[in-house]
This record gives sequence, C-alpha cells and structure tokens, in this order.
Amino acid sequence: MLFQTTVVLAFAIGAYADLYSLVATIPWAPGTPSSTDQSAIYNGTYYLSDRTNKGVHIISLANKTQTGFVGGFVTGLVNGTLSSSISGPDGIVILANRNEMYVGDGDGTVKVINLFTNTIVANISTGSKKRADEFAYDPSTQTIVVTNANESPPIVNILNATTHLIIGNISFSGASGLEQPAFNPGDSQFYISVPQTTGAPGGALQLINVIKGSFSIAKTLPIPSCAPAGIVFGPANHVFIGCSGSQVSSFGYSASYIMDVTTGSIVANISGITGSDQVTYSAKTGYYYASAYLNTVNGVPTPILAVIAANGTVLQKIATDNVTAHAVSVDPSTGNLVVPVKAKGIQIYSLNSTSTTASGGTPTSSTPASTSKTSDAQNNRLGALFGMAVAAMAFAWLL
Ligand SMILES: *[C@@H]1O[C@H](CO)[C@@H](O)[C@H](O)[C@H]1NC(C)=O
Ligand SMILES: *[C@@H]1O[C@H](CO)[C@@H](O)[C@H](O)[C@H]1NC(C)=O
Ligand SMILES: *[C@@H]1O[C@H](CO)[C@@H](O)[C@H](O)[C@H]1NC(C)=O
Ligand SMILES: *[C@@H]1O[C@H](CO)[C@@H](O)[C@H](O)[C@H]1NC(C)=O
Ligand SMILES: *[C@@H]1O[C@H](CO)[C@@H](O)[C@H](O)[C@H]1NC(C)=O
Ligand SMILES: *[C@@H]1O[C@H](CO)[C@@H](O)[C@H](O)[C@H]1NC(C)=O
Ligand SMILES: *[C@@H]1O[C@H](CO)[C@@H](O)[C@H](O)[C@H]1NC(C)=O
Ligand SMILES: *[C@@H]1O[C@H](CO)[C@@H](O)[C@H](O)[C@H]1NC(C)=O
Ligand SMILES: *[C@@H]1O[C@H](CO)[C@@H](O)[C@H](O)[C@H]1NC(C)=O
Ligand SMILES: *[C@@H]1O[C@H](CO)[C@@H](O)[C@H](O)[C@H]1NC(C)=O
Repeated sequence: MLFQTTVVLAFAIGAYADLYSLVATIPWAPGTPSSTDQSAIYNGTYYLSDRTNKGVHIISLANKTQTGFVGGFVTGLVNGTLSSSISGPDGIVILANRNEMYVGDGDGTVKVINLFTNTIVANISTGSKKRADEFAYDPSTQTIVVTNANESPPIVNILNATTHLIIGNISFSGASGLEQPAFNPGDSQFYISVPQTTGAPGGALQLINVIKGSFSIAKTLPIPSCAPAGIVFGPANHVFIGCSGSQVSSFGYSASYIMDVTTGSIVANISGITGSDQVTYSAKTGYYYASAYLNTVNGVPTPILAVIAANGTVLQKIATDNVTAHAVSVDPSTGNLVVPVKAKGIQIYSLNSTSTTASGGTPTSSTPASTSKTSDAQNNRLGALFGMAVAAMAFAWLL
C-alpha cells in the first residue's frame, strides 16, 4: 500500500504539470527585496508591497514591465534587522468602486493611494504604533476592516472609506496575532483569520459585528489543527484556509482546508499543502491559489505555489522560494498568476487557454479521482493521491 502511494503521487503531479507556464520575469527595481508582503491585481496592473525598498511596485501585466513605484512607507529595525511588525508596506486591498488602494504601513497608519495618479492621497492613523497589517472591504457599505495584528491584544479597526475615519475597534483578547480578514459576499459578513485563540487551539475564523454601536466578535468557527493565515472566499460560502508554517511542528501534519461557513464544517482536506500566507481565488478559472512558501516535505523546505480546484484537487505545484513568494495574485480577466521570487524577479505565469474553462476548469490530462466531502475514507483517498506528507511518510517507511 505504501509503495503504491508514492507511485500514484508521481502520476498526480505529472498529470497537471503544464496547466500554467512561465511567460515573463520582471527584474527587481530599484533593488532586490528580502522582505515583501501582499499583492493585488486591478485593471491589468499588478501591485506588490516591498518593505526593503519602502514602497509598492506597479507592474503593467500587458507590457510586462514596471511602470511605477509608490514610495514613502515606514520601516523599523530591531537589533539592526528590518522587523515586519513595525515596517510597511504590508497588506493591500483594492477598492474598485473608488479606484483606490489601501495599504498598511509600519507605523500603524493606512495609506490611501489614488489609482489614477498612483499617489498617496490620505494617511489614516489607526492609533497603533505597530503596523497596520491586512484588509477586507465591503463595497456596498464602503466599510474597511484592518488588523493591528502585532498589538497585544490584537485589534481590528473598522474604517469608513468615504470619510477615512475609524468608526470602531474590536479587541481580540484571547488571540495570539491576527491574519487575513475577508468579506464574504455570500452572507455580507466579515471573517477574521485568527491563528490561535481561547477555545480554538488550532485557530478559528471569527465573524465580527461592524454595525455602529455593536462592534464585537459575533461568532467563532474553530478550525482543526491549522494556525490559519491567508483565507479567501470562493463559490457558495466556501472559504479556502491556508495554514501557517507552524502547522507541521505544532500539529504533526500538513494540510489546507476548504470550509463551508454556513455549517463551519471542513469540506475538503488538502493534504501536503502548508505554510501559506496570501491565498486567492479566481472566478475566471474557478481555482484557489496558495502561496505555500513555508511548505515542507519530510522536514525539507519545499516552497511551492499550489493551484487547487474548487473541489480540493491539487492541479499544479509551481516551485517558488521561502523569502518573497508568500504573495499570489491572479488577473481576474486573463486568469494569469503572478508570484514574486527573490532570486529571479516578479514572475508571470499564463494559463494555457486549452486547459481550463470559465466555469471551473478541466485539465487536459487524465484526472485522478478526488473528493469534496470529509468522510475519513475520502480524506484518506485525497491524501493518498495528492499528499506530499503522506508520500514522505511512505518514503520514510520504505527506507
Ligand atoms: C504599454 O505599452 C504601450 C505601447 O508602448 C503603451 O501605449 C501603453 O500605455 C503601455 N501600457 C501601460 C499600462 O504601461
Ligand atoms: C535584541 O538584542 C538583545 C541583546 O542581544 C536581546 O536581548 C534581544 O532579545 C534582541 N531582541 C530581539 C527582538 O531579537
Ligand atoms: C478600471 O477599469 C474600469 C472599467 O473599465 C474603469 O471604469 C476604471 O476607471 C479603471 N480604473 C483605473 C484606475 O484604471
Ligand atoms: C502619516 O501619519 C503619521 C502618524 O499620524 C505621521 O507620523 C506621518 O508623518 C504621516 N506620513 C505622511 C506621508 O503624511
Ligand atoms: C480605536 O479607535 C479610536 C477612534 O475611534 C482611535 O482613536 C484609537 O486610537 C483606536 N485604538 C486603537 C488601539 O487602534
Ligand atoms: C460613512 O460616512 C458617510 C458620510 O458621513 C455616511 O453617510 C455613511 O453612512 C458612513 N458609512 C458607514 C459604514 O459608517
Ligand atoms: C528557506 O530555504 C532555505 C534553502 O533554500 C533553507 O536553508 C532555510 O532553512 C529555509 N528557511 C525556512 C524558514 O524555511
Ligand atoms: C502550456 O503552454 C506551454 C508553453 O506555451 C506549452 O509548452 C505546453 O505544452 C502547454 N500545455 C498544454 C497542456 O497545453
Ligand atoms: C475536481 O475538479 C477537477 C478540476 O476541475 C476535476 O478535474 C475533477 O474531476 C474534480 N473531481 C471530482 C471528484 O469531482
Ligand atoms: C487532514 O489530513 C491529514 C493527513 O491525511 C490528517 O492527518 C488529518 O486528520 C486531516 N484533518 C482533517 C481535519 O480532516
């Protein structure tokens, strides 16, 4: 059985190997960064936070060149080394209906960038002296939430995007850190990814009340053995949950999950994909994308970008790095993906036009069976087909 597991894994990787192909690498300018954070794509333009160079890269995806750089962000050193907890730029969110981008900065301020002029038009203080980190946006009420992830206890600030005023703060008193907030258009609620909190040792998604006068945590959906980081909503109230690099050391296995937030149940356990930061979803391809930059196989660092179908099937693993490749963005109009790799540059991968459909993607090669439900048998099958961790165990057993 164990021997068969390794053989099947090799087949599974080969089957989807060329869904995406590298088409361009944009050289780093003004210099190669050692500390980057989130990225976003809007109207064919790619944006990437770069703490080393204290600004946001602006890349034309059509022309495959850097067309601008918005500087003026704040970095801080601890013992001579750049510290992400007091440095920016950090998280990024696009407010398409305002043609603005909000970017977190190292001094607890939020910089508002006008996307026609690429200039900072507002500088909103959250009251924290540590970084303003990650964002979510509700376009219908024009409400922004941003995390003060490095405060103790961590805080979520609620901002009015039309007035640029903080309208409330929510304290996460049991939490150790905060990760990605996300707005779910399916139920119009904000969800916060909480790596660990009281009563949820594996982490949780926490829903918040952002109605004036009732700023509070509304509901907790615990996550089994994860330390969640990036989260993103896909179709039908499903949320993809990336787990941190600490998942393996804390819980002894590596997996990402898809949760149905209407029930809080895990509907797909994606074995062998861990150590993600930013994750994203493309409505064009119907795929999730996980920047598993701290992924390990049998204890060996194996940074990858994983392309995952809506049912949890891993379609492709692209080799990346464990330094800058914790951001991933997908162009909503083309399905092309962009990942920053320190030793190379900003890499653009194009989706082979024959290998997907608008409704959800059909790989060209033969397709191993997969699952979208969580019976133990199905989990075992998914793990057997796609689990690097399982394969690693099998190798260890054989040796
Ligand atoms: C791309 O290049 C074309 C031709 O040089 C130019 O007209 C266009 O403005 C460029 N687009 C961007 C977004 O830089
Ligand atoms: C900074 O250096 C001092 C003295 O070596 C040490 O005590 C402290 O823990 C260091 N701080 C961090 C955050 O590494
Ligand atoms: C983005 O594209 C939309 C639709 O074409 C347009 O209305 C908007 O002005 C564009 N915004 C920017 C910043 O280019
Ligand atoms: C932004 O606000 C912070 C704190 O309020 C201030 O220290 C900083 O100088 C401001 N930066 C800009 C570019 O206005
Ligand atoms: C909370 O919000 C208020 C504005 O209502 C602001 O003055 C304060 O600095 C915020 N506190 C933190 C810790 O973010
Ligand atoms: C934001 O401020 C505007 C202007 O005062 C107000 O009309 C709107 O209701 C506010 N939105 C929220 C979500 O507080
Ligand atoms: C990153 O990868 C290098 C090998 O390229 C390895 O030596 C290092 O330990 C890795 N660091 C982390 C945090 O995984
Ligand atoms: C995907 O595109 C690459 C580069 O154009 C090509 O080499 C490869 O054969 C294509 N794969 C499929 C399945 O179409
Ligand atoms: C999962 O999705 C992939 C890609 O769309 C598809 O090829 C595969 O057949 C699906 N598996 C199941 C069990 O539905
Ligand atoms: C996910 O899969 C791993 C590896 O097969 C397994 O150890 C773990 O119990 C599963 N977790 C859940 C929540 O199903």
